[in-house]
This record gives sequence, structure tokens and C-alpha cells, in this order.
Amino acid sequence: MAIRYKIRSRIYYAYNEIKKMSKKISLIGAGQIGGTLAHLIAIKELGNIVLFDVAEGLAKGKALDIAQSSGVTGFGVDIIGTNNYEDTKNSDVIIITAGVPRKPGMSRDDLLGTNLKIIKQVADGIKNTSPKAFVICITNPLDVIVMALQKYSGLPTHKVVGMAGILDSSRFKYFLSKELKEPIKNIESLVLGGHGDTMVPMTKQTKIKNKNLNELVKENKISKSKLDDIINRTRKGGAEIVKLLERGSAFYAPAASGVEMAESYIKDLKKTLPCAAYLNGEYGYSNIYAGVPVVISKKGAEKIVEIELEKSEKLNFDISVKAVKELFESAGKIDPTLAK
Ligand code: APR
Repeated sequence: MAIRYKIRSRIYYAYNEIKKMSKKISLIGAGQIGGTLAHLIAIKELGNIVLFDVAEGLAKGKALDIAQSSGVTGFGVDIIGTNNYEDTKNSDVIIITAGVPRKPGMSRDDLLGTNLKIIKQVADGIKNTSPKAFVICITNPLDVIVMALQKYSGLPTHKVVGMAGILDSSRFKYFLSKELKEPIKNIESLVLGGHGDTMVPMTKQTKIKNKNLNELVKENKISKSKLDDIINRTRKGGAEIVKLLERGSAFYAPAASGVEMAESYIKDLKKTLPCAAYLNGEYGYSNIYAGVPVVISKKGAEKIVEIELEKSEKLNFDISVKAVKELFESAGKIDPTLAK
């Protein structure tokens, strides 16, 4: 009996020690995306989770609900809900979805005024409590909000990134897989530029079993007009869902995309992922965030990969970055401290 007790308490001790070594992941915003992130992260056991929201009950309720699913799913991470930034202290990863989503008929840019104020509060909340965290922003309008977040928080640019390109690429791949009747896992793709109507699905970089889309058009495997329709649908992929849902915006695919970035950081997978990253000369731009391929390792956004763009791709990329710049200028008019 005594031996059995000793073994059991040692196992319990070891279990708690492992838990202590686990990464701490704080999710700021416990709404549709925040809740889905928490669930996915728990199932994947990427780390212990702190679900934060100004709506305290929402964060606590979702945390408790997800925690109670561990008896069925069997995951062994802790999850708590809170409205106190102290609980997020020393996070390894922070994923931000605090903000308002779109309503039907709205563009992401229409969210700027409201979400800028919210992101300032979040930056104030995390900058001193988790100065070493890898921060992934999902709040829209993405590129401008992530840039404002970096400026407000003062965290290093390689530790502050935005989630958009993985989601946009995933939408593009899904539509192509349906059209070409090809399993989605056989499709590689990149959607770059800003996360808005000017985003740039890269046809040359999109490959199905080693053939790029331009070659497939030449071989009549897909018509140019069908491909244009798919590109257009990808660009408006978020709005299509907003219209269908009537209340709120997409959350399953955005959450899955955020988790992909967090996992590459936590496990040092060094995946090259399309993310909104700070450009410092890459692609001919400086002091701006835009969607580019980024190697995500334990260092954060370790390296921006500069792929050779075709003339038309570069032209569209430039249009997209210009749109981000213009929106950031609007942000500077709302909050002149950003314009400095
Ligand atoms: N601090 C923390 N949480 C906040 C704050 C704040 N200052 N302000 C609002 N929130 C919380 C809300 O209480 C809400 O629970 O953010 C949460 C947002 O959740 P949802 O409204 O469900 O929105 P969601 O679909 O998750 O999208 C969040 O991500 O993709 C973007 O466009 C989307 O900007 C939106 C964001």
C-alpha cells in the first residue's frame, strides 16, 4: 500500500514538473477565434493556456468548458480564464484577437478606429508583463494593427508578427483543390501582400504536384477566367463568410492558421510561412508590415525569404503594400503618436 502510494505521488510530482516546464500561451481575446485557439492548442498540448478577455465571465466560462473536455480528449495542459494581465505574466507566446469583428457589408479597414484603441490597451497590458513573448496578432485590419501593436508595445520587430497569409493561402488552396479535384495536401501556395482586397495570390508560387498554376493554365487544366474567379473569391474569402454568418466573422480557419505559427515557434520547426512581418529593406520596403514568407523558429521571425516575383506579381505586391501604407497613415491621423 505504502509503495503504491509512493509511486503514485512520484508520478504526480513528475507530471507537475512537466507541466511547469510547459510553455505558457496567453490568448488575448476569448471570443470566437480566441476560444477556438484555446481548444486547438489544448488538443495539441502546445502549452498551458491563459485565456484573457475584458469580459471576465466569457474567458472563465470558455476556459472551464475546454478544461472539462480533457476528460474525453485526454489532454494534459492547464487552462484558466482571466481579465487580469498579471495572470499572463512571462508568457512564451501571446496570440491577440481582442477587437471587434466585421459586420456584413463592412471591410476590414472599417474596423480601424475601434480596434486601434483596443490594441493600445492590449500593448500596455503585455509589454511589461511578457517582454520576451512571441506575439502573433490576428485582430483586423491586420497589417496596420500589427504595426501599431509593435509600436505601442516597443517589443522587438522579429517577435511581433501578424497572421493572415496562412489563412489566405489556405482559402486559395481549398478553392483550387475543389476546382482541380486534387487533394489539398498536394497543393503548395503563397498569398502575399496585405490582408485585404489587394492581397496577392501568387500563381507562379502555387504548385500542384510540382507544376505551377501558370503552367496549368497553358496546359488548359484550368482556364484563365476560372483562375481569376478563384483569385477573386480568395480575396473576398473573409467577406463571403461574414455575409453567411450574419453575426461575426470567420474563426475556425483563422485559429488553425494562428496555431500553425505558434507551433513553429514553440517547437523550433523553422517552417517558412506567409505572415505579416516587419520589412527592413526586404522586397524594397522598410518600416512597414506586409505579408511575406517568413521562417518561424525559436528566435521568432528569424528570416524573411525573398522570392523572385514576376513583373505582374511585383506590381500587385506594390499596390497591396501601398494600401497598407495609406491605411497606416489613416491610423496616424487617429492617433498622431503612431505617425512619429
Ligand atoms: N482587451 C481584451 N479583450 C477585448 C478587448 C480588450 N480591450 N476589447 C474587446 N475584447 C474582446 C471581446 O470581449 C471579445 O470577446 O475581444 C473578443 C473578440 O471576439 P469576437 O467578437 O468573437 O471576434 P473574433 O471573431 O474572435 O475576431 C477577433 O480577429 O480576425 C479578426 O476581424 C477579426 O478583429 C477581429 C478579431
